[in-house]
Amino acid sequence: MTASVPVITIDGPVGSGKGTIAARLAETLGWNLLDSGALYRLVAIAALDAGVKPEDAARSAGLAQRLDCEFSQARGEVIARLGGVDVRNRMRTNEVSTMASKVAAVPAVRAALAERQRAFAQPPGLVADGRDMGTVIFPGAQLKIYLTASVEARAERRYKQLKEKGENVNLSRLLRDIEARDHRDMNREVAPLRPAHDAVVVDSTGLSVDEVLEKVVKMVKEKSLTI
Ligand code: DC
Repeated sequence: MTASVPVITIDGPVGSGKGTIAARLAETLGWNLLDSGALYRLVAIAALDAGVKPEDAARSAGLAQRLDCEFSQARGEVIARLGGVDVRNRMRTNEVSTMASKVAAVPAVRAALAERQRAFAQPPGLVADGRDMGTVIFPGAQLKIYLTASVEARAERRYKQLKEKGENVNLSRLLRDIEARDHRDMNREVAPLRPAHDAVVVDSTGLSVDEVLEKVVKMVKEKSLTI
């Protein structure tokens, strides 16, 4: 990270709303955005397509190292391309989510993606969304937020999101999947999901996106990170 580039990290479990909050905050500040989960999801797609098993650490890490990806924005939506192909819809499927959580538990995959993530810290600033942004990737970030919510609230949010995308989902199955992913993300040996010691924990259960954003913007102002 370039010392002069301010970084705000937003970490938390699936469905905590961190992706939405990070995107809205980056837009409000006019800063760059890193959706680090998208990188793990792209590695997952590459692994599924190549028939690579996540437990094959060397091949999984090779895919992460060679990941040919590109992010662009169109009408407020981030478009991810893998090998030139638009994969934005495929990225959020349950199959890819589960695989992403598995490849993310492979230390060599995490190491292969670390520098790629730090390269996003470009002027005027970066909002970085993920699981280990404040603990591992940007330990010197000026503001660290750990966004969470009850597992039921998170499952319901994901349910709505997937339904809107036309996916055939079942709420109780989604709840079990989220619990399994939480367990994997929080108990893996490398970079487990947990708040950084200097993170501010925000519980978004029962709060709207605007209410959470308001809280975060207040913290940004208190830190004098922006106008
Ligand atoms: O944030 P997300 O749901 O798009 O993340 C997809 C998976 O990648 C998730 O299971 C956790 C993992 N991940 C991670 O381990 N570290 C990050 N910085 C971001 C995501």
